[in-house]
Amino acid sequence: MAAARERTLALIEPLSEQQLNRVYSELLSPLAWDLGHIANFEELWLVQTVGGLEPLDGALGRYYDAIENPRPVRNQLPLLRGEELRGYLADVRGRALDVLDRTDFDRTDDPLLEGAFAYEMLIAHERQHQETMLQLLQMVDGYECPGYDPSVVELAVEPGPEMVAVPGGSYSIGAAGAGFAYDNERPRHTVEIEPFLIDRTPVTNAAFARFVDETGDEPPLYWEPDGEGGWLRTVFGRREPLDERLPVIHVDWGQAERFARWSGKRLPTEYEWEAAAAGTDPGHANLDQLAYGCAPAGAYAEGASACGALQMLGDVWEWTATDFAGYPGFQAFPYREYSEVFFGGDYRVLRGGAWAATREVVRPSFRNWDLPVRRQIFAGFRCAADSGVGS
Ligand SMILES: [Fe+2]
Repeated sequence: MAAARERTLALIEPLSEQQLNRVYSELLSPLAWDLGHIANFEELWLVQTVGGLEPLDGALGRYYDAIENPRPVRNQLPLLRGEELRGYLADVRGRALDVLDRTDFDRTDDPLLEGAFAYEMLIAHERQHQETMLQLLQMVDGYECPGYDPSVVELAVEPGPEMVAVPGGSYSIGAAGAGFAYDNERPRHTVEIEPFLIDRTPVTNAAFARFVDETGDEPPLYWEPDGEGGWLRTVFGRREPLDERLPVIHVDWGQAERFARWSGKRLPTEYEWEAAAAGTDPGHANLDQLAYGCAPAGAYAEGASACGALQMLGDVWEWTATDFAGYPGFQAFPYREYSEVFFGGDYRVLRGGAWAATREVVRPSFRNWDLPVRRQIFAGFRCAADSGVGS
């Protein structure tokens, strides 16, 4: 918890109070909302629910409820600012640590305590909000990335086939019994999968630029023509020529789907994606927010999955063909608003985790979801094909 908090505070350290409260995009909260929400979530689950204590200020629970307050209205709320906001983060943390001191996480009669669920959930929640905050921070002109360390990227790029084969058969999908996982990753169940092919790496900027040039489809978010037939990309206030080797990022589901069809392929289902990711080594993946961008497609050869696919974890979230829904036998836990209210066909599943996700969050069974029109998230994709199609 301390490490996650240290990182959250480091991310906002370069910003002014005005930048913390500014609305940069209708799709993203002001950073001050994320900060208050992180503390409020900790107060709700550790201090109130596990600890049985009263909140410091009951009204805050309403302002920082993500479902009650959709993003466009969040800057109209009487949010905590400045020293008051920092004080609330610190006060809640103090009370949460007191609760942790006297909580027995070996108890198996309370699912919130078993396996230290509530504690793991808090860390994952703060880490996931760091990624959301980075979606906004990359729009801040001249933002100086704290702890920026490009040396974390393993650049070894080995030539290889465009697609790799995944054998058909029975695959166990979802989170295994032990260890922290969200409700939507359970229960683990068996799925029959036909043999298929999957791209060895995420689709690159070079390939996507060819698609845009040939079809006139929309470019990804943050791209603009360079006036000479190429593209520039702006990120963290820096406008740079497009690096063709990197995975394409900031595309929506429709762009991914149209690219796949244009190339004679399709998007993988999320089950296919998870089958192709089996055996991936998360120790060799571009995660943890230190590279502040993607590694070239073909990097992290040592992290290859069993079928030989690279970068299944890290770099970009990967759009899949699948609507977000509960697995057979799904049970909401610890609250319906985590996953269940998003079931029903409006949202698509993304897998794999981007450079801005952290190791506490990402695992092969982790399911992310968003509306198919969203492009501000760190999303790219790779394509699949039935066996016998493609390369
Ligand atoms: Fe949240």
